[in-house]
Amino acid sequence: MPKLCINIDHIATVREARKTIEPDPVIGAKIAIDSGAEGITVHLREDRRHIKDRDVFLIKQIIPENILFTLEMAATDEMLDISNKVKPGLITLVPEKRQELTTEGGLNVISQRDYLKKYLVGLHKNGLTVSIFINADKEQIKTAKEIGSDFIEIHTGPYAENPCEAEIKKVKEAIDYGKSIGLKINAGHGLNYTNTEAIAKLNGIEQLHIGHSIISKSVLFGLKEAILEMKKIIRH
Ligand code: PXP
Repeated sequence: MPKLCINIDHIATVREARKTIEPDPVIGAKIAIDSGAEGITVHLREDRRHIKDRDVFLIKQIIPENILFTLEMAATDEMLDISNKVKPGLITLVPEKRQELTTEGGLNVISQRDYLKKYLVGLHKNGLTVSIFINADKEQIKTAKEIGSDFIEIHTGPYAENPCEAEIKKVKEAIDYGKSIGLKINAGHGLNYTNTEAIAKLNGIEQLHIGHSIISKSVLFGLKEAILEMKKIIRH
């Protein structure tokens, strides 16, 4: 059964809408762990639009040994330095564009092959385990293996946008191929309460990284309790 790693970036998105201190993603991480999350995932973006350095360092301090802490990041010198200080359980390299609303596609490993190969040497030298967020594309996956990645995370966004048999088949073939060449396999992006089952039942996925849909549901499902608490304060 794949482990559920919860991406808590969007708790920080709400905080940053007001540039205030709540909701605190560190408390979110604690609640997620206490509620059964098997991993916590954060994306420290270059523009720090949601998760901040302080969140990453504090989550690292509170996370138990048996819970996987994944840091998603762009392959930059700044992030190499931060990842070495934080030492998360897994680094997932993602492409990053300033204008995008969320990660739009897998990392193009083929076009940056030499740069990434060297970058992975740097991460491995620091004792880190590396995953690459990648499209379900055989040549990209092959190259990820050749440059030394330990894991790949298959981008499930295209399937989420068009949840049909053909897209599931692409994800399945990518898993099977990745495993056949010795990669460990994760998957994520765009997974929600209606489309996750078909992916979760494919054999060979170690971790599912899911964020937006879980945080969205928690906002609605927590609303009643939040209102009742405020009514109580007003009453008294
Ligand atoms: N995996 C990666 C590499 C991501 O960049 C994201 C989004 O930050 C996710 C998984 C989670 O995607 P979603 O928020 O759509 O569940």
